[in-house]
Amino acid sequence: MAESHRLPTTARVAAAPELLNSPRALRQLTASWRAAGEVVGLVPTMGSLHAGHLSLVGAAQSECDRVVVSIFINPLQFGVEEDYLDYPRQFEADLELLSEMGVDACYRPEVRTMYPDGFATRVVVEAGSELWEAERRPGHFTGVATVVTKLLAATGLCRAYFGEKDAQQAVLVAQLVRDLDLGATISVCPTVREPDGLALSSRNVLLSASGRRAARCLAASLIEASRRFDSGIISGPELAQAASEVIGAEPLASLDYAGVVDPADFQPLAQATGGSRVLVAAQIEGVHLIDTALLGSPPRLSG
Ligand code: PAJ
Repeated sequence: MAESHRLPTTARVAAAPELLNSPRALRQLTASWRAAGEVVGLVPTMGSLHAGHLSLVGAAQSECDRVVVSIFINPLQFGVEEDYLDYPRQFEADLELLSEMGVDACYRPEVRTMYPDGFATRVVVEAGSELWEAERRPGHFTGVATVVTKLLAATGLCRAYFGEKDAQQAVLVAQLVRDLDLGATISVCPTVREPDGLALSSRNVLLSASGRRAARCLAASLIEASRRFDSGIISGPELAQAASEVIGAEPLASLDYAGVVDPADFQPLAQATGGSRVLVAAQIEGVHLIDTALLGSPPRLSG
C-alpha cells in the first residue's frame, strides 16, 4: 500500500470497525441502521486490501451513512488447481486500514459459518457462463454468485460496490441482483492503477520484481488496442489481436485471452465502437492477472 493512499493522521478516525462474524449479527446491525433511516453500503472483498478496495470504501462512504466491508476468501470461487491456499492473507493490516478510514463494520465470517456441513445451494448465472473468465475458470462465477448472494442477503437492503477491473464479475452481480429481486443497488467504480498502469490486485504481491515489471504488459496491451482504435481500426478481432501481441511480446507472460466485447453482455464484437470493452488475461509466474478498459478510455500512465 503506497503511503500516499493513506489518510493523513489528523483525518483518521480512532474507532475500529465493529467486527462481526455471523450473518445474524450483521443482519441485526444493518437492520438497526436502516430503522434509524440510514443508508447502508457494502464493499465485498477477499482482504489484502489495497487502494483499489479503499476507493470502493471511499465511494461507499460518500454515498451511504454506514459502510460494511466484508473480508472473506471464498473457497467456492477457486478451482482445485487455483491459489486458494496461497491467496494473500493480512487481516491485521486490513483492519488497520479500515480503522483509518472510519469504516463502521467489518464482516469476517469463518468458512464453516458460510458453508456449514450440509450446505448444498449454488447460485448459477447462466448468461455469459461460457465466456472469458467463466470459460477460463470453470465454476468460478458460480462461487462468486453464491457468496455475493449470501453477503447481500445477510446485509439486507444496501448499495453494494464493485470494481470495474473485474468487469465481468460486476455485470454478473448486477444480473443476479435483478433476477433474484435482491433490491441492492450496484455501483461499479473505476480501476485504481500503479503509476506505470498496472491495475492494483491483491495477487500482485505474489510476483517477483521481474514478474512485477512484466505485468505492465496487461495495461500496455489495453493502451495499444485503444491506440489502434483511435487510428481507425474498428475490427474487434484485429484490435484483440493487437492487445494479444503486446502480451505475447513479454517473455514472462502467457496470454489467456484478449477480446473486444459488448460491455453489457461480454459477447465478442465484430466491429468495435467507442464504448466497447477490451478484456485481457495472462499468467505471469503462475499468477492469474486480468485487466480491462473501454476503447477510447485507456489506462493513463502517470509514472
Ligand atoms: P477482491 O479481489 O478482493 O476484490 C474486491 C473488490 O475490489 C471487487 O469488486 C474488485 O473488482 C475490486 N477491485 C479489485 N482491484 C481493484 C482496483 N485495482 N481498482 C478498483 N477496484 C478493484 O472480487 C472479489 O474480491 C471477490 O470475487 C468478491 C466479489 C469479494 C466475492 O468473493
